[in-house]
Amino acid sequence: MSDASPPVIGIIGGSGLYQIDGLKDVAWKKVSSAFGEPSDELCFGTLEGQRVVFLPRHGRGHRIAPSNINFRANVDALKRSGVTDLLSLSAVGSLREDLPPGVFVVVDQFIDRTFAREKSFFGTGLVAHVSMAKPVCSRLGDAVMAACENLGVAARRGGTYLAMEGPQFSSLAESRLYRTWGCDVIGMTNMPEAKLAREAELCYATVAMVTDFDCWHPDHDAVTVDQVVSVLLGNAGKARGLVKQVTPLLGGHEGPCRQGCQRALDHAVITAPEA
Ligand code: ADE
Repeated sequence: MSDASPPVIGIIGGSGLYQIDGLKDVAWKKVSSAFGEPSDELCFGTLEGQRVVFLPRHGRGHRIAPSNINFRANVDALKRSGVTDLLSLSAVGSLREDLPPGVFVVVDQFIDRTFAREKSFFGTGLVAHVSMAKPVCSRLGDAVMAACENLGVAARRGGTYLAMEGPQFSSLAESRLYRTWGCDVIGMTNMPEAKLAREAELCYATVAMVTDFDCWHPDHDAVTVDQVVSVLLGNAGKARGLVKQVTPLLGGHEGPCRQGCQRALDHAVITAPEA
């Protein structure tokens, strides 16, 4: 991408978010990837005058479980489609009393406890180690917070997302352990997505939408899918409003990312160049 090109906004929709409201010139297209099949066709369109590419993470109809998502193909297909700014929307459980269901958390850290997923584009022939010290783009986070404020959506800036393998929810001991680690929310899908977005030199941010208190909370029953889905539907309505609000805020941006997301590989490749 030239530094002067307008951004192309990618949206990965999690559970409950399978379409974008108000999208114009809509075309679903199959985008191939050297890393296999993305979760679905990608949905191209314009929103508030901005180019947007949408991908439902679990596929339309929620067909793909977290461990079976081809995260590499998803991120690669979005990158190949010209996406520069990637916003990930995901349902999560809350690990804190003050983050009740319905709140959106613009997380800024992750702990990756997943173990059955392909996590890098590199490793065969070319080895690279990107920094994950600051895994999300603060410009995207600023835009999401501004959009939530405009909409009156309760949102918190910052927080640590514990990524678990699933598909089963946590045991009580695990849920309590993650709280002692200082984690704020728990989900099954944002790792390795965030790592791959960094390797792909994309600006990336996650909006973690709280659906439940996981199982640690003494006043709430253990989490169930029914409970998650009922809150999810309300969250998904707010998420669609958020996407509409945030798109023009991101679209106004030109020039390189000040945080350096688009240069993540500059000092990351360790393989010696061929003589
Ligand atoms: N997604 C929504 N709620 C969750 C929870 N409690 N644990 C893991 N993933 C979730």
